[in-house]
Amino acid sequence: MNRIGALIADMTLAEKLGQLTMTAAGYTVTGPVIAGDSTDAIRAGTIGSLLNLYGGGQVHEMQRLAVEESRLGIPLLIAFDVIHGHRTLFPVPLGEAALFDPEAWELTAREAATEAAADGIAMAFAPMLDVSRDPRWGRTAEGPGEDPWLGAQIAAAKVRGFQGSDLAAAAALAAVAKHFCAYGPVTAGRDYASVDISERSVLEVHLPPFAAAIAAGAAGVMPAFTDLAGIPMTAHVGLLRGVLRGRLGFDGVIVSDYNAIAELMRHGVAADLAEAATLALKAGVDIDMMANAYRIGLPVALQRELVSMTEIDDAVRRVLTLKLRLGLFEQPYRRGASAEGAPALERRRRLAREIGARAVVMLKNDAALPLPGAVRRLAVIGPLADAADQMCGPWSLVGQPGTYVSVVAGLRSALLGAQVVHSPGVTIGGDDISGIAGTLDICSAADAVILCVGEAAAMSGEAASRACLDLPGQQRRLALSVIDRAKALGKPVIAIVFSGRPLAVPWLIERADAVLAAWFPGCEAGHSIADVITGQVSPSGRTPMSWPRAVGQVPIFFGQRPSGRPADPDNAYTSKYLDLPNEPLFPFGYGLSYGRFGLSNLRVSPHEVTASEQIEVRVDVANDGARAAEQTVFLFVHDRIASVARPLLELKGFGKIALRPGESGTVTLYIAAAELRFLGLDLRPVFEPGEVEIMVGPCADRSLMLVQSIRLCA
Ligand code: BGC
Repeated sequence: MNRIGALIADMTLAEKLGQLTMTAAGYTVTGPVIAGDSTDAIRAGTIGSLLNLYGGGQVHEMQRLAVEESRLGIPLLIAFDVIHGHRTLFPVPLGEAALFDPEAWELTAREAATEAAADGIAMAFAPMLDVSRDPRWGRTAEGPGEDPWLGAQIAAAKVRGFQGSDLAAAAALAAVAKHFCAYGPVTAGRDYASVDISERSVLEVHLPPFAAAIAAGAAGVMPAFTDLAGIPMTAHVGLLRGVLRGRLGFDGVIVSDYNAIAELMRHGVAADLAEAATLALKAGVDIDMMANAYRIGLPVALQRELVSMTEIDDAVRRVLTLKLRLGLFEQPYRRGASAEGAPALERRRRLAREIGARAVVMLKNDAALPLPGAVRRLAVIGPLADAADQMCGPWSLVGQPGTYVSVVAGLRSALLGAQVVHSPGVTIGGDDISGIAGTLDICSAADAVILCVGEAAAMSGEAASRACLDLPGQQRRLALSVIDRAKALGKPVIAIVFSGRPLAVPWLIERADAVLAAWFPGCEAGHSIADVITGQVSPSGRTPMSWPRAVGQVPIFFGQRPSGRPADPDNAYTSKYLDLPNEPLFPFGYGLSYGRFGLSNLRVSPHEVTASEQIEVRVDVANDGARAAEQTVFLFVHDRIASVARPLLELKGFGKIALRPGESGTVTLYIAAAELRFLGLDLRPVFEPGEVEIMVGPCADRSLMLVQSIRLCA
């Protein structure tokens, strides 16, 4: 019998259920606090994992109780939400998605893992892979945006970054892909609400990022809080056992979301904790986070013969296997053994500055940016201008707000010769408008106005859905007053929008001279923004979500299927709105730079391909602007005639090229013909011969694309 088998044979039921139990722990001046338990539970072996505890010393103190004072000496698994950095915070994940750069995605996960592991943590509740086409949903900020193929690229990069090549390494974390699956399309964008979508959407839109995470070796998966057509994901045998474990071959650990097993009762599928625990265990959930359903419910379920000891043992085996793979049995104190030195932290702050700048999406620029060197007096206006503590957005649990850099601070240090004058005007969400008048006077005396508006950090993330996508509070009033005053005096207004989602602010985009979508840029926010505004960095971010004109367009995404009555301005009985265009204000992939790019000469070969072949796609890119900059090109396909109608655009690739003024170059992308298949409902790929359009463009706007057709052959 192997080591794990021998351990399981020696375990009592209480010890087994302990391995399946994750409890929140914290630390105060007087010592450890464990939710609903005491440290005796660790000694007794009835807690196997802790969440929310960090710090080498604290973690080791708890680990010592498990390893040295419990009967079997099984180490604890310490898990944490490492969502966009740990102590050093990078942009929120949606902002990072805007980089379209797999190396950067991997690098920030690697750095976050190193930092979190130095804090004693062994498992990250990340990456969050929920495709979102509805910016009302606050958790949009935590995820990859609207597209499944993009989500899959991010998934693979993040898992590689967190886990590295050896899970036992001192700086490696087990990645937990979450929230499996189809959490994004919650009804009306309301967090935790029911989801009721087609099987095809589940397969084609919501599963691919998870499939990619599993293929990259993700050690864990967390089911979503939500139900899918009446079956809560925490109890979804078809998706957890059938698809995840069966079809995708996932043999790692499934960790429930926070209290989700007990919530099966609220969902209306379990009468008591024993039934709830039974449903979750049978669906394949190994670890019960915070519901205490396994410890209380499974003994009852065993008595009622609802579950078998074999089912419990299987879950215990998976948990112990993960602990073994993480090297916890051999070296339980390895993570958290040494604090990182100042040089590592400084290097990481520099990286945060760079990534924060590269995440910025420039939505508009009427020659207002970069700021001319001659600017002597700058008015930096708005409630987000000097709001260092808001700059990291949601899930910045261990960041140190005192070290975050505000826009005002960043601009002051970048523009040493200039006077940077600030007034918030209004608060982020408040009603008081008495500060607006004074703010206008400041604008009058300035050469240019930087208007910093948007959401508070807590307005996106979990439990942060919004029904309105405009600026909260009185910010619209402030912005309109400032723009009116500045226009009257001929001064440029540069608006910077901070948010965890695309905000529907067409009125702002129309009136401001330049608009930057900064998301929540991270701990170096002010420096990142200053780098872009002063022209040190040319903006290169591209929006990972279609940018709506109005909430009424939501859900909004480029991968729509053709209508039998496509929009036609001359025909009333076609698919369109009476009051707004169908198109987003800015398409997916949109984003300006300080260069000016043109695409030409699309070459696709071969023109006839079989399922096993690869297609090479080349396009020339020229920068005929006056500044060096980077351009992103996107590769889309459209299978025009298929047995199941295919989306009008499907993303299959992207590439980047940096060019000096006047320079041109070629971007080469590859696509495996096998990627042109789609999944049948039996999960088998369907590859249908026929014509497929290959399109390359600067964003998901068909009118800007170069197109060639190829033929798929049987
Ligand atoms: C969230 C998860 C998170 C967990 C632990 C839950 O409320 O949905 O994403 O990992 O809490 O903090």
